[in-house]
Amino acid sequence: MSTTTVGKRVHDFINTPRQLFIDGALVDARSGKTFETLNPATGETLATVAEGDAADIDLAVQAARRAFDHGPWGHMTASERGRIMWRIGDLIMEHLEDFAELETLDNGKPLNVARAADVPLAAELFRYMAGWATKIEGNTISLSVPYAPGAQFHAYTLREPIGVVGQIIPWNFPLLMAAWKLGPALATGNTVVLKPAEQTPLAALYLAEIMAEAGLPDGVVNVVPGFGETAGDALAAHVGVDKIAFTGSTEVGRLVANAATGNLKKVSLELGGKSPNIVFSDADRQTAIAGAAGAIFFNQGECCVAGSRLYVQADSFEEVVAGVVDVAKSIKVGNGLDPDTQMGPLISEEQLARVSAYLGSGREQGADILVGGRRQGKLGYFFEPTVIANTRPDMRVVNEEIFGPVVVAAPFDDIDQLAAMANNTPYGLGAGIWTHDISKAHLLAKKIRAGTVYINCYNIFDAALPFGGYKQSGWGREMGHEALEAYTEVKAVCAQL
Ligand code: NAI
Ligand code: MG
Repeated sequence: MSTTTVGKRVHDFINTPRQLFIDGALVDARSGKTFETLNPATGETLATVAEGDAADIDLAVQAARRAFDHGPWGHMTASERGRIMWRIGDLIMEHLEDFAELETLDNGKPLNVARAADVPLAAELFRYMAGWATKIEGNTISLSVPYAPGAQFHAYTLREPIGVVGQIIPWNFPLLMAAWKLGPALATGNTVVLKPAEQTPLAALYLAEIMAEAGLPDGVVNVVPGFGETAGDALAAHVGVDKIAFTGSTEVGRLVANAATGNLKKVSLELGGKSPNIVFSDADRQTAIAGAAGAIFFNQGECCVAGSRLYVQADSFEEVVAGVVDVAKSIKVGNGLDPDTQMGPLISEEQLARVSAYLGSGREQGADILVGGRRQGKLGYFFEPTVIANTRPDMRVVNEEIFGPVVVAAPFDDIDQLAAMANNTPYGLGAGIWTHDISKAHLLAKKIRAGTVYINCYNIFDAALPFGGYKQSGWGREMGHEALEAYTEVKAVCAQL
C-alpha cells in the first residue's frame, strides 16, 4: 500500500523536506545536514528531515530563554495560557486524520488505533492541562520561629515555572509522548526545546505548526529533530536548560541523568519496564485472556508498561495460556494503513534485530516458544505475536525488557510468594491483577512496587491518572496534577510584619 492513500495535507507534508522549528520559524539545520525517517511497514524512506545537532539545540535553547524572559508568554494570564492550550487540543482533533496517518506512516501502528487512542489522548492531555493553568496555587503557612518570640510573620509559597525545559521523547507514541511532555510544561508557564526520536520526528513537527496556529507565541516550544548522541546529549548537557525530561531506555536515562549534572538541572525520567500481569483462577476467564493478550500485544508490544510477564494461577494456567496463544494466532499483522490490521511492524530493523536476539537467547536457554517467535515476511519489520513458557527466573527473556510482542508465561501456586515474584525485577512501572475478589486485588496492589497497578483492565491511560515508575523505571510522574510538580519550583516567601 502506498502513501497515495493518505490525505493531501499529509502527502504534501511528507513530500517536502521537513525543517527544524525554532523561535516560531522553520529553519534548516546549521550544518545543512538531513536524515531520513522510514516507513517501518516497508523499510522505505518516508520523509527527509533536517538533522539538528548541538549548534541547533543551542539556538533553540536561546530562543526558549528569550521567550521565557522577555516574550509575551511570561506576561499572559493563566487563563490566556489555558485557552491557547485548549485550542491546541481542539486543533489536534480537527486534524485527527492527518495526525493518525502520520503516526501510522512514521511509527507503523494501525491507523484505527492511532485514530481511537493516540490522537484523542493527546488532545485530551492538552485540554486537561489547560484546566490546570488557572489552578496552580501555593499555600499560606503559620510560623512558630522559636528564636523570635512575639514576632509576627506572613509566609506563603508560590509555584513558579522552572524555566527552559528540555524534553527528549521516544518513538512508540510519537504524538502522545510529545503531549505528555508539553502539556504540564506549558500549563505551568515554562518554555520548551523538544527533541523527538529520530525514528519518528514527523508528528512533533506537525504539532509545532498546529501550536503556532493555536496562538502559542514564538520560542515557547521549539522542536529540534536529531539523533540521541548529538542533539539529545547536547540538550541534556546544556547549561542554559533548567530541567530535562526524558522518556526512553533505562540505559539512556542514566546517560541523561549524568549529562544533567553539569548545571544540576532538574531531571525527570520515564524509563523501561518488565511489568507483571497476574491472573487468578477466580477471574472471568475470557476477560482475563483478552486482557492478558491486549496487555502485551497492544502497540506491537512497544509499550513501556506492557504486561510482559504473565503469571497465572496453576490450576488455570493451561487454559489461560492456550487462550492467549489463540489470540496471538488470530491477530492480523500488517501495514497499519490496511483497515483490517490489528498489529503493525516494529519500529526499525534495529528493534527487529533486538527482539529476534531475545528469542534466540530464549531458545538457547531452553524456553518453549508456544507461538510466534520469528520475523513475519521479508518487507518491513514485522514480528509475530509470541508467547513463551517453561522459563526459568534467570533467563534474559524473563528479566530484560524486550519491547516487542513477546510475553513470558509462568504458573504460580503460592499466593504468599506472589508479590515477591512480581517485584523480582529492577523495574517498577506497571502491573496487572485479574480477579473477582476485590480484597485480594487491593491487598496485592499495595504490595506491588510499581507506579501503576491495573485491576481487571490494562493499558488504561488518562490525562488525570499519574504515570511513572518505582525503582529503575524512572523519577517523577507524568500526567495528573502530580505532573505539575515536576514543572514548578516552590518559592517560600517569608515577611516579618
Ligand atoms: P533510546 O532510549 O535510545 O531513545 C529514546 C530517546 O532518547 C530518543 O529520542 C533518542 O534520540 C534519545 N537518546 C538516545 N541516546 C541519547 C543520549 N545519549 N542522550 C540524550 N538522548 C538520547 O531508545 P531506543 O534505542 O530507541 O530503544 C532501545 C530500547 O529502549 C527499547 O528496546 C526499549 O526497551 C527501550 N525504550 C523504552 C521506551 C519507553 O517508553 N520507556 C521508549 C523507547 C525505547
Ligand atoms: Mg519513521
